[in-house]
Amino acid sequence: MYDSMTGNVRRFAAGVQALAQGTADRQFEVLDLRKAVPSGDFLLMTYTFGSGGVPETTARFLDDHAAGLRGVVSSGSFHWGANFGRAGDHISGRYGVPLVARINKGGTLTDRQTVAAWLTEHWIQHSNRPAQAGQPRSAYGTLD
Ligand SMILES: Cc1cc2nc3c(=O)[nH]c(=O)nc-3n(C[C@H](O)[C@H](O)[C@H](O)COP(=O)(O)O)c2cc1C
Repeated sequence: MYDSMTGNVRRFAAGVQALAQGTADRQFEVLDLRKAVPSGDFLLMTYTFGSGGVPETTARFLDDHAAGLRGVVSSGSFHWGANFGRAGDHISGRYGVPLVARINKGGTLTDRQTVAAWLTEHWIQHSNRPAQAGQPRSAYGTLD
């Protein structure tokens, strides 16, 4: 799932999707949290707004959907100094999930590789976990 105001996170998510798909040989869905809801566990990619804050749209989304949150990636800009990408620290701390990456603007190839590798590894651990009774997991996970 991603939140994006000016397109950096949207482009980053699409780049990660392309990489992860090549490595994991599976489909990762990329969904705009302003338009869609997650269908299972998801990685959240968002940006930093205000002075190191979590965008209102992301905060409202998490109020409803934090149960499936497994990790967070936060975008920001180096210009913000100590507040660089701070939204990710807030979300990671509040929900107890890893900050998978803190990226400048739309990120670099290394950032995309880091996140794609995390997704692939996470999905492998996931698929080895026994399905909960009465709740068979979809054969397709979601990057959501
Ligand atoms: C009004 C405003 C406030 C921002 N505040 C921060 C901030 O506190 N820390 C930070 O790292 N980046 C900050 N940024 C930079 C954005 O988080 C960064 O450009 C991000 O890549 C935007 O993602 P998007 O293009 O997907 O919307 C701010 C940008 C704007 C326009």
